[in-house]
Amino acid sequence: MASKPDEPTDSPDSPDSPDSTDPDDDLASQAPGPLGLPSSTGPTGHVAVLPAEVLEYLAPKPGGVILDCTLGRAGHAKLITPHLAPGGRYVGLDVDPLNLDFAREALAGAPARVDAVQVDVVRSNFAAARSALDALGIGRVDGLLADLGFASNQMTDPARGLSFAAEGPLDMRLDPDLGQTAADLLNRLPERELADVIYRYGEEPMSRKIARKVVEARRTSPILKTSELAQLVREAYGGGRAAQSRMDPATRTFMALRIAVNEELGALERLLSELPGLMGEGGRAVIISFHSLEDRLVKHAFAGLHRDGVARRLTPKPVVAGDDERRDNPRSRSAKLRAIEWNGSAARDSATDSASYAGKNWTRQRDSTT
Ligand SMILES: C[S@@+](CC[C@H](N)C(=O)[O-])C[C@H]1O[C@@H](n2cnc3c(N)ncnc32)[C@H](O)[C@@H]1O
Repeated sequence: MASKPDEPTDSPDSPDSPDSTDPDDDLASQAPGPLGLPSSTGPTGHVAVLPAEVLEYLAPKPGGVILDCTLGRAGHAKLITPHLAPGGRYVGLDVDPLNLDFAREALAGAPARVDAVQVDVVRSNFAAARSALDALGIGRVDGLLADLGFASNQMTDPARGLSFAAEGPLDMRLDPDLGQTAADLLNRLPERELADVIYRYGEEPMSRKIARKVVEARRTSPILKTSELAQLVREAYGGGRAAQSRMDPATRTFMALRIAVNEELGALERLLSELPGLMGEGGRAVIISFHSLEDRLVKHAFAGLHRDGVARRLTPKPVVAGDDERRDNPRSRSAKLRAIEWNGSAARDSATDSASYAGKNWTRQRDSTT
Protein backbone atom coordinates (compact mmCIF):
# COMPACT_ATOMS: atom_id res chain seq x y z
CA MET A 1 0.00 0.00 0.00
CA ALA A 2 1.49 3.33 -1.01
CA SER A 3 2.17 5.75 1.81
CA LYS A 4 -0.27 8.64 1.99
CA PRO A 5 0.25 11.89 3.91
CA ASP A 6 -2.26 10.94 6.58
CA GLU A 7 -0.84 7.49 7.28
CA PRO A 8 1.18 6.56 10.33
CA THR A 9 4.66 5.44 9.30
CA ASP A 10 4.17 1.88 10.48
CA SER A 11 1.62 0.96 7.88
CA PRO A 12 0.48 -2.66 7.48
CA ASP A 13 1.93 -5.05 4.93
CA SER A 14 0.82 -4.37 1.45
CA PRO A 15 -1.59 -6.85 -0.09
CA ASP A 16 0.72 -9.32 -1.69
CA SER A 17 -1.21 -11.43 -4.13
CA PRO A 18 -3.78 -11.15 -6.84
CA ASP A 19 -6.39 -12.63 -4.53
CA SER A 20 -5.88 -10.01 -1.84
CA THR A 21 -9.23 -8.49 -1.07
CA ASP A 22 -10.25 -4.97 -1.93
CA PRO A 23 -10.91 -3.31 1.43
CA ASP A 24 -13.99 -1.60 -0.01
CA ASP A 25 -15.43 -4.99 -0.94
CA ASP A 26 -14.56 -6.29 2.51
CA LEU A 27 -16.43 -3.50 4.09
CA ALA A 28 -19.38 -3.19 1.77
CA SER A 29 -21.08 -6.23 3.24
CA GLN A 30 -20.10 -5.42 6.82
CA ALA A 31 -21.60 -1.99 6.71
CA PRO A 32 -25.22 -1.88 7.77
CA GLY A 33 -27.87 -1.10 5.18
CA PRO A 34 -29.76 2.18 5.00
CA LEU A 35 -31.82 1.31 8.06
CA GLY A 36 -28.87 -0.11 9.90
CA LEU A 37 -29.94 -3.72 9.36
CA PRO A 38 -28.45 -6.27 7.02
CA SER A 39 -31.18 -6.94 4.47
CA SER A 40 -31.27 -10.65 5.28
CA THR A 41 -30.89 -12.02 8.78
CA GLY A 42 -33.32 -14.93 8.66
CA PRO A 43 -35.36 -16.24 11.59
CA THR A 44 -32.24 -16.89 13.70
CA GLY A 45 -30.90 -13.36 13.24
CA HIS A 46 -28.06 -14.68 11.10
CA VAL A 47 -27.76 -16.60 7.85
CA ALA A 48 -24.83 -19.05 7.69
CA VAL A 49 -22.54 -18.22 4.76
CA LEU A 50 -21.28 -20.66 2.12
CA PRO A 51 -23.34 -23.57 3.54
CA ALA A 52 -22.78 -26.00 0.66
CA GLU A 53 -19.09 -25.16 0.45
CA VAL A 54 -18.61 -25.67 4.19
CA LEU A 55 -20.11 -29.15 3.93
CA GLU A 56 -18.07 -29.96 0.84
CA TYR A 57 -14.71 -28.93 2.32
CA LEU A 58 -15.32 -30.05 5.89
CA ALA A 59 -16.64 -33.41 4.62
CA PRO A 60 -18.18 -34.51 7.97
CA LYS A 61 -18.58 -38.27 8.36
CA PRO A 62 -20.50 -40.60 10.72
CA GLY A 63 -18.60 -40.92 13.98
CA GLY A 64 -16.46 -37.88 13.22
CA VAL A 65 -15.42 -35.20 15.71
CA ILE A 66 -15.89 -31.59 14.61
CA LEU A 67 -14.73 -28.45 16.40
CA ASP A 68 -16.81 -25.39 15.50
CA CYS A 69 -14.72 -22.47 16.74
CA THR A 70 -17.49 -19.92 16.18
CA LEU A 71 -20.81 -21.55 16.99
CA GLY A 72 -22.77 -18.29 16.63
CA ARG A 73 -26.45 -18.99 15.89
CA ALA A 74 -25.73 -22.67 15.16
CA GLY A 75 -26.46 -22.23 11.46
CA HIS A 76 -23.50 -24.29 10.28
CA ALA A 77 -23.86 -26.59 13.28
CA LYS A 78 -27.39 -27.58 12.26
CA LEU A 79 -26.15 -28.43 8.79
CA ILE A 80 -23.14 -30.43 9.92
CA THR A 81 -24.37 -32.41 12.93
CA PRO A 82 -26.70 -34.78 11.02
CA HIS A 83 -23.69 -35.97 8.99
CA LEU A 84 -21.90 -37.08 12.17
CA ALA A 85 -24.58 -39.58 13.18
CA PRO A 86 -24.28 -42.11 14.54
CA GLY A 87 -21.62 -41.71 17.14
CA GLY A 88 -20.09 -38.37 16.23
CA ARG A 89 -19.20 -35.39 18.42
CA TYR A 90 -19.72 -31.71 17.76
CA VAL A 91 -18.00 -29.14 19.97
CA GLY A 92 -19.15 -25.55 19.51
CA LEU A 93 -17.21 -22.66 21.00
CA ASP A 94 -18.22 -19.03 21.30
CA VAL A 95 -17.30 -16.08 23.49
CA ASP A 96 -20.81 -14.61 23.46
CA PRO A 97 -23.02 -16.08 26.20
CA LEU A 98 -26.20 -14.90 24.45
CA ASN A 99 -25.33 -16.66 21.21
CA LEU A 100 -24.33 -19.75 23.17
CA ASP A 101 -27.75 -19.85 24.85
CA PHE A 102 -29.43 -19.43 21.49
CA ALA A 103 -27.31 -22.15 19.88
CA ARG A 104 -27.86 -24.56 22.76
CA GLU A 105 -31.59 -24.25 22.33
CA ALA A 106 -31.43 -24.40 18.54
CA LEU A 107 -29.42 -27.60 18.64
CA ALA A 108 -31.65 -29.17 21.28
CA GLY A 109 -34.55 -28.73 18.87
CA ALA A 110 -32.65 -30.04 15.85
CA PRO A 111 -33.83 -33.07 13.87
CA ALA A 112 -33.78 -36.46 15.53
CA ARG A 113 -30.55 -37.64 13.94
CA VAL A 114 -28.68 -35.10 16.06
CA ASP A 115 -29.65 -37.21 19.08
CA ALA A 116 -27.11 -39.72 17.84
CA VAL A 117 -24.40 -37.06 18.03
CA GLN A 118 -22.91 -35.69 21.23
CA VAL A 119 -23.02 -31.90 21.14
CA ASP A 120 -20.99 -29.79 23.57
CA VAL A 121 -21.58 -26.05 23.70
CA VAL A 122 -18.65 -24.33 25.40
CA ARG A 123 -17.93 -20.75 26.32
CA SER A 124 -14.37 -20.28 25.18
CA ASN A 125 -12.29 -18.09 22.95
CA PHE A 126 -11.05 -20.18 20.04
CA ALA A 127 -7.57 -18.98 20.94
CA ALA A 128 -7.93 -21.44 23.82
CA ALA A 129 -9.37 -24.25 21.70
CA ARG A 130 -6.77 -26.73 22.96
CA SER A 131 -7.80 -26.22 26.61
CA ALA A 132 -11.48 -26.46 25.67
CA LEU A 133 -10.90 -29.81 23.96
CA ASP A 134 -8.71 -31.02 26.83
CA ALA A 135 -11.54 -30.28 29.27
CA LEU A 136 -13.80 -32.53 27.17
CA GLY A 137 -11.21 -35.29 26.91
CA ILE A 138 -10.84 -34.81 23.15
CA GLY A 139 -7.42 -35.17 21.55
CA ARG A 140 -7.56 -34.44 17.84
CA VAL A 141 -10.48 -33.54 15.63
CA ASP A 142 -11.56 -34.64 12.16
CA GLY A 143 -12.78 -31.22 11.20
CA LEU A 144 -12.41 -27.64 12.38
CA LEU A 145 -14.59 -24.73 11.26
CA ALA A 146 -14.01 -21.06 12.00
CA ASP A 147 -16.53 -18.57 10.57
CA LEU A 148 -14.81 -15.45 11.78
CA GLY A 149 -16.04 -12.13 13.10
CA PHE A 150 -19.52 -11.32 14.30
CA ALA A 151 -22.99 -12.70 13.61
CA SER A 152 -25.66 -10.44 12.09
CA ASN A 153 -27.71 -10.43 15.31
CA GLN A 154 -24.70 -9.00 17.14
CA MET A 155 -24.25 -6.25 14.56
CA THR A 156 -27.90 -5.24 14.70
CA ASP A 157 -28.15 -5.20 18.51
CA PRO A 158 -27.82 -1.49 19.41
CA ALA A 159 -26.66 -2.37 22.92
CA ARG A 160 -23.41 -3.79 21.50
CA GLY A 161 -22.48 -0.58 19.72
CA LEU A 162 -21.03 -2.40 16.71
CA SER A 163 -22.98 -0.36 14.20
CA PHE A 164 -23.02 3.39 13.67
CA ALA A 165 -26.48 3.06 12.13
CA ALA A 166 -28.15 2.65 15.50
CA GLU A 167 -27.61 4.72 18.63
CA GLY A 168 -25.91 2.74 21.36
CA PRO A 169 -23.00 2.64 23.79
CA LEU A 170 -19.52 2.28 22.26
CA ASP A 171 -19.01 -1.16 23.76
CA MET A 172 -18.22 -3.54 20.84
CA ARG A 173 -17.23 -6.51 23.01
CA LEU A 174 -18.46 -9.87 21.75
CA ASP A 175 -17.22 -11.35 25.02
CA PRO A 176 -18.70 -9.28 27.87
CA ASP A 177 -15.83 -10.35 30.15
CA LEU A 178 -13.20 -8.57 28.05
CA GLY A 179 -11.52 -5.79 29.97
CA GLN A 180 -11.96 -2.79 27.71
CA THR A 181 -14.71 -1.39 25.54
CA ALA A 182 -14.35 0.72 22.41
CA ALA A 183 -15.18 3.79 24.53
CA ASP A 184 -12.32 2.89 26.88
CA LEU A 185 -9.89 2.79 23.94
CA LEU A 186 -11.22 5.97 22.35
CA ASN A 187 -11.04 7.98 25.55
CA ARG A 188 -7.74 6.62 26.84
CA LEU A 189 -5.32 5.97 23.96
CA PRO A 190 -2.83 8.69 23.07
CA GLU A 191 -3.60 10.32 19.71
CA ARG A 192 -0.84 8.55 17.82
CA GLU A 193 -1.76 5.10 19.14
CA LEU A 194 -5.39 5.69 18.30
CA ALA A 195 -4.43 6.69 14.75
CA ASP A 196 -2.34 3.53 14.45
CA VAL A 197 -5.26 1.34 15.59
CA ILE A 198 -7.63 2.99 13.11
CA TYR A 199 -5.10 2.73 10.31
CA ARG A 200 -3.85 -0.76 10.97
CA TYR A 201 -7.16 -2.51 11.61
CA GLY A 202 -9.40 -0.34 9.45
CA GLU A 203 -6.90 0.48 6.70
CA GLU A 204 -8.37 3.95 7.09
CA PRO A 205 -6.41 6.58 5.12
CA MET A 206 -7.82 9.42 7.27
CA SER A 207 -6.75 7.80 10.53
CA ARG A 208 -4.69 10.71 11.79
CA LYS A 209 -7.35 13.32 11.17
CA ILE A 210 -9.93 11.09 12.84
CA ALA A 211 -7.70 10.52 15.88
CA ARG A 212 -7.08 14.28 16.14
CA LYS A 213 -10.83 14.97 16.05
CA VAL A 214 -11.47 12.37 18.73
CA VAL A 215 -8.77 13.74 21.01
CA GLU A 216 -10.06 17.31 20.60
CA ALA A 217 -13.63 16.22 21.32
CA ARG A 218 -12.81 14.14 24.37
CA ARG A 219 -11.19 17.17 26.04
CA THR A 220 -14.71 18.50 26.49
CA SER A 221 -16.49 15.27 27.33
CA PRO A 222 -15.85 11.54 26.83
CA ILE A 223 -17.10 9.93 23.62
CA LEU A 224 -19.55 7.27 24.68
CA LYS A 225 -22.15 6.85 21.92
CA THR A 226 -22.01 5.38 18.43
CA SER A 227 -23.57 8.53 16.95
CA GLU A 228 -20.90 10.75 18.53
CA LEU A 229 -18.05 8.77 17.02
CA ALA A 230 -19.74 8.49 13.62
CA GLN A 231 -20.28 12.25 13.58
CA LEU A 232 -16.62 12.95 14.47
CA VAL A 233 -15.42 10.69 11.67
CA ARG A 234 -17.72 12.38 9.17
CA GLU A 235 -16.42 15.78 10.30
CA ALA A 236 -12.82 14.57 9.89
CA TYR A 237 -13.63 13.53 6.34
CA GLY A 238 -15.41 16.77 5.47
CA GLY A 239 -18.24 16.87 2.93
CA GLY A 240 -16.21 16.38 -0.24
CA ARG A 241 -14.29 13.22 0.57
CA ALA A 242 -17.26 11.59 2.28
CA ALA A 243 -19.44 12.19 -0.76
CA GLN A 244 -16.92 10.41 -3.02
CA SER A 245 -17.09 7.18 -1.00
CA ARG A 246 -19.72 4.54 -1.62
CA MET A 247 -19.92 3.74 2.07
CA ASP A 248 -20.28 5.73 5.25
CA PRO A 249 -16.91 7.23 6.27
CA ALA A 250 -17.40 5.76 9.76
CA THR A 251 -17.31 2.15 8.49
CA ARG A 252 -13.55 1.64 8.67
CA THR A 253 -13.17 3.29 12.07
CA PHE A 254 -15.90 1.12 13.57
CA MET A 255 -14.33 -2.00 12.09
CA ALA A 256 -10.90 -1.03 13.42
CA LEU A 257 -12.18 -0.52 16.94
CA ARG A 258 -14.12 -3.80 16.86
CA ILE A 259 -11.02 -5.70 15.79
CA ALA A 260 -8.93 -4.02 18.48
CA VAL A 261 -11.45 -4.46 21.30
CA ASN A 262 -11.95 -8.16 20.55
CA GLU A 263 -8.28 -8.80 19.76
CA GLU A 264 -9.52 -10.54 16.66
CA LEU A 265 -6.22 -10.90 14.82
CA GLY A 266 -4.33 -12.14 17.89
CA ALA A 267 -6.97 -14.82 18.51
CA LEU A 268 -6.82 -15.93 14.88
CA GLU A 269 -3.02 -16.08 14.93
CA ARG A 270 -3.21 -18.21 18.03
CA LEU A 271 -5.73 -20.58 16.48
CA LEU A 272 -3.62 -20.92 13.34
CA SER A 273 -0.53 -21.66 15.38
CA GLU A 274 -2.42 -24.35 17.33
CA LEU A 275 -3.80 -26.16 14.28
CA PRO A 276 -1.09 -28.83 14.10
CA GLY A 277 -1.87 -29.82 17.68
CA LEU A 278 -5.62 -29.95 17.07
CA MET A 279 -6.02 -31.75 13.75
CA GLY A 280 -6.08 -35.51 13.35
CA GLU A 281 -4.87 -37.53 10.34
CA GLY A 282 -6.88 -36.59 7.28
CA GLY A 283 -8.68 -33.89 9.28
CA ARG A 284 -9.83 -30.77 7.51
CA ALA A 285 -9.73 -27.17 8.70
CA VAL A 286 -12.09 -24.70 7.04
CA ILE A 287 -11.75 -20.99 7.80
CA ILE A 288 -14.05 -18.27 6.50
CA SER A 289 -12.77 -14.71 6.77
CA PHE A 290 -14.47 -11.41 6.02
CA HIS A 291 -11.68 -8.91 5.58
CA SER A 292 -8.24 -8.89 4.07
CA LEU A 293 -6.33 -8.70 7.37
CA GLU A 294 -7.84 -12.02 8.48
CA ASP A 295 -7.64 -13.63 5.08
CA ARG A 296 -3.96 -12.77 4.75
CA LEU A 297 -3.17 -14.54 8.05
CA VAL A 298 -5.08 -17.66 6.99
CA LYS A 299 -3.54 -17.69 3.54
CA HIS A 300 0.01 -17.44 4.87
CA ALA A 301 -0.51 -20.03 7.60
CA PHE A 302 -2.05 -22.53 5.16
CA ALA A 303 0.69 -21.87 2.61
CA GLY A 304 3.34 -22.60 5.27
CA LEU A 305 1.68 -25.86 6.34
CA HIS A 306 1.34 -26.91 2.70
CA ARG A 307 4.95 -26.01 1.87
CA ASP A 308 6.23 -28.00 4.85
CA GLY A 309 4.22 -31.05 3.83
CA VAL A 310 2.24 -30.99 7.06
CA ALA A 311 -1.03 -30.54 5.24
CA ARG A 312 -2.44 -30.22 1.75
CA ARG A 313 -4.12 -26.98 0.75
CA LEU A 314 -7.54 -27.76 -0.76
CA THR A 315 -8.19 -24.20 -1.93
CA PRO A 316 -5.20 -22.55 -3.62
CA LYS A 317 -7.55 -19.60 -4.20
CA PRO A 318 -10.25 -18.62 -1.72
CA VAL A 319 -13.74 -19.94 -2.38
CA VAL A 320 -16.36 -17.18 -2.59
CA ALA A 321 -20.14 -17.08 -2.68
CA GLY A 322 -22.03 -17.55 -5.92
CA ASP A 323 -24.37 -14.96 -7.41
CA ASP A 324 -27.52 -16.33 -5.77
CA GLU A 325 -26.04 -16.32 -2.30
CA ARG A 326 -24.51 -12.88 -2.79
CA ARG A 327 -27.94 -11.58 -3.74
CA ASP A 328 -29.82 -13.31 -0.91
CA ASN A 329 -27.28 -12.81 1.86
CA PRO A 330 -25.27 -9.58 1.53
CA ARG A 331 -22.94 -10.69 4.31
CA SER A 332 -21.66 -13.46 2.03
CA ARG A 333 -20.20 -10.95 -0.42
CA SER A 334 -16.99 -10.55 1.51
CA ALA A 335 -16.72 -14.17 2.70
CA LYS A 336 -13.56 -16.05 1.68
CA LEU A 337 -13.28 -19.72 2.52
CA ARG A 338 -9.94 -21.52 2.69
CA ALA A 339 -9.52 -25.19 3.52
CA ILE A 340 -6.62 -27.50 4.27
CA GLU A 341 -6.34 -31.26 4.91
CA TRP A 342 -3.88 -32.79 7.35
CA ASN A 343 -1.45 -35.41 6.14
CA GLY A 344 -1.01 -38.64 8.05
CA SER A 345 2.18 -38.83 10.06
CA ALA A 346 2.94 -35.15 9.56
CA ALA A 347 0.05 -34.23 11.84
CA ARG A 348 1.70 -36.03 14.75
CA ASP A 349 5.27 -34.92 13.98
CA SER A 350 4.36 -31.27 13.72
CA ALA A 351 2.38 -31.10 16.93
CA THR A 352 5.28 -29.71 18.89
CA ASP A 353 6.22 -27.20 16.23
CA SER A 354 2.97 -25.35 16.00
CA ALA A 355 4.35 -21.93 16.93
CA SER A 356 6.15 -21.61 13.61
CA TYR A 357 2.83 -21.13 11.76
CA ALA A 358 1.81 -18.08 13.74
CA GLY A 359 3.01 -14.56 13.17
CA LYS A 360 3.13 -13.73 16.86
CA ASN A 361 2.73 -15.26 20.25
CA TRP A 362 -0.60 -14.98 21.99
CA THR A 363 0.53 -13.82 25.38
CA ARG A 364 -2.88 -13.23 26.92
CA GLN A 365 -4.52 -16.59 26.45
CA ARG A 366 -7.99 -16.61 27.91
CA ASP A 367 -9.81 -19.76 28.79
CA SER A 368 -13.36 -19.15 29.84
CA THR A 369 -14.52 -22.70 29.32
CA THR A 370 -17.59 -23.44 31.38
C1 LIG B 1 -19.97 -15.26 11.98
S1 LIG B 1 -20.56 -15.74 13.52
C2 LIG B 1 -20.68 -17.49 13.35
C3 LIG B 1 -21.99 -17.92 12.79
C4 LIG B 1 -22.21 -19.41 12.76
N1 LIG B 1 -21.25 -20.08 11.91
C5 LIG B 1 -23.61 -19.72 12.30
O1 LIG B 1 -23.78 -20.31 11.24
O2 LIG B 1 -24.56 -19.37 13.03
C6 LIG B 1 -19.15 -15.60 14.55
C7 LIG B 1 -19.38 -16.01 15.99
O3 LIG B 1 -18.09 -16.22 16.53
C8 LIG B 1 -18.02 -15.64 17.80
N2 LIG B 1 -16.60 -15.29 18.01
C9 LIG B 1 -15.92 -14.24 17.49
N3 LIG B 1 -14.64 -14.30 17.86
C10 LIG B 1 -14.49 -15.42 18.61
C11 LIG B 1 -13.39 -16.02 19.29
N4 LIG B 1 -12.16 -15.48 19.24
N5 LIG B 1 -13.60 -17.16 19.95
C12 LIG B 1 -14.83 -17.74 19.99
N6 LIG B 1 -15.91 -17.20 19.38
C13 LIG B 1 -15.75 -16.06 18.71
C14 LIG B 1 -18.97 -14.47 17.77
O4 LIG B 1 -19.43 -14.17 19.07
C15 LIG B 1 -20.08 -15.00 16.85
O5 LIG B 1 -21.09 -15.59 17.58
